[in-house]
Amino acid sequence: MTKKEQLYEGKAKKVFATEDPSLLIVSYKDDATAFNGLKKGTIEGKGVINNRMSNALMRLLEKKGIPTHYVKELSDRDTLVKKVSIVPLEVIVRNIAAGSFSKRYGVEEGLQFSSPTIEFSYKNDALGDPLINEYHTVAIGLADASEIYTIKKLAFAVNEQLKAFWASCGVTLVDFKLEFGKLADGSIVLADEISPDTCRLWDSATGEKLDKDRFRRDLGGVEDAYREIMKRLEEHISEA
Ligand code: TMP
Repeated sequence: MTKKEQLYEGKAKKVFATEDPSLLIVSYKDDATAFNGLKKGTIEGKGVINNRMSNALMRLLEKKGIPTHYVKELSDRDTLVKKVSIVPLEVIVRNIAAGSFSKRYGVEEGLQFSSPTIEFSYKNDALGDPLINEYHTVAIGLADASEIYTIKKLAFAVNEQLKAFWASCGVTLVDFKLEFGKLADGSIVLADEISPDTCRLWDSATGEKLDKDRFRRDLGGVEDAYREIMKRLEEHISEA
């Protein structure tokens, strides 16, 4: 499968057409942004790590019965995926308070929830990805009630699988963002990526942040953190 015309360039990835209209190639960049693109930078080697990590986790989720867009890793940065129509929602699952949740509700980062939470943001850069509830999602036609039901069920199932996997690596899965897409037959599959850009991952022993918060918050050691979390994954993925 080869890259044809570029269809889209996002903040962290490019998307290309292929000879097969039902398949796309996603190409991961080293570019990093935060705060809706206000902060810009480069994380050297990030594209390779995010591509390989996302693919390994998607393969793991497929093995556990969760449908994804993943087809095949083509190279260090390029992956073949099923073409989907993206449901314009950022689906955020949280196990521990952090980030915007802590800020919004005035709770300390690190507060362990008794059960996971879920929230949706409307994927719309011009509006700054505002929080949206299920009724509003249906009202403006972003998804219907049965699609939202499926998305929630899949998102919590992803959480259980990823939490267990990262625990086996000595890593605590704090929260993460997922995106879902619809195949031509209308079925919902997990799409986009699962990487240190889209998850909060804390070393279980030390609490050290091994994710993009090091970039967002200018903590330093960004590249080292990405390399370390990838190393942990590679050490444990074969047993998962
Ligand atoms: P938040 O606490 O800033 O809302 O972030 C929750 C999770 O979602 C965190 O793991 C980072 C991830 N995330 C993205 O992947 N993309 C985004 O644009 C934002 C704001 C968060």
